[in-house]
Amino acid sequence: MKPKVILYTATSLDGRTQGFSIDMGLFYSLAQRWGENASLVGCDTLLNAPDDIPEDEPSEVLTITPSADDSRPILVVPDSRGRLKSWHYWRKQPYWKDCIALCTKNTPAEHIEYLKRNSIKTITAGIETVDYSQALDALHEQMGTTTVRVDSGGTLNGVLIRSGLVDELHLLVHPTLVGASTQATFFRDANSPPTGEIPLKFLGSEVHSEQIILLSYAVVK
Ligand SMILES: NC(=O)c1ccc[n+]([C@@H]2O[C@H](COP(=O)([O-])OP(=O)(O)OC[C@H]3O[C@@H](n4cnc5c(N)ncnc54)[C@H](OP(=O)(O)O)[C@@H]3O)[C@@H](O)[C@H]2O)c1
Repeated sequence: MKPKVILYTATSLDGRTQGFSIDMGLFYSLAQRWGENASLVGCDTLLNAPDDIPEDEPSEVLTITPSADDSRPILVVPDSRGRLKSWHYWRKQPYWKDCIALCTKNTPAEHIEYLKRNSIKTITAGIETVDYSQALDALHEQMGTTTVRVDSGGTLNGVLIRSGLVDELHLLVHPTLVGASTQATFFRDANSPPTGEIPLKFLGSEVHSEQIILLSYAVVK
């Protein structure tokens, strides 16, 4: 069984995910309503985080054992190429109780060693790139995950939407236009021309402070 996958993203009116001021307080207060057990965060979202994030000290080994009654979600990051070297930093953040790296059969062996040494759990799904269908099954089987909230840029959103794995789409639309030929839209598709429409069913809308509108849809499967 697969967990329910909720894709929630902040956009400008023209669908950009960057280049405007996101109301982070509102974004994360609304995010709590889905009660996710896992936050699926794109590797590039963490790599491009605005703060100056230190890489782990090779000599520092981190072991955290979350208590059984800890209700916080787990942080799940697809990282087939072993690019994320700041797991200590992310694991110490108060939002998540634990972390999982999604790897593939081709993830560099030395990176898998580093994850093991630091007790970062891994799920291996796919050969070159992460197979999210397998990864979601494994999250349910191994961690009991029932709801995943995707917090990523348009690349991971695009792969998940095109794979038919997203159940609901929630857009927090800010009253601004960004423009430009940026590719930073909330649904990036590697296929050009696009391979077909993704029909949606309107679930509802809410107007929040500063005329920010939450638009909610179910993906028609
Ligand atoms: N407005 C918002 O709500 C919001 C939310 C989050 C982030 N963001 C913005 O989004 C930006 C980053 O977005 P992004 O689109 O560049 O990256 P991203 O979606 O954060 O990360 C790309 C992820 O997709 C995976 N991936 C790429 N191609 C794949 C494929 N073919 N099959 C399977 N997995 C694949 C990558 O895994 P591998 O490393 O394994 O390839 C990586 O984990 C950030 O700078 C941030 O500002 C905005």
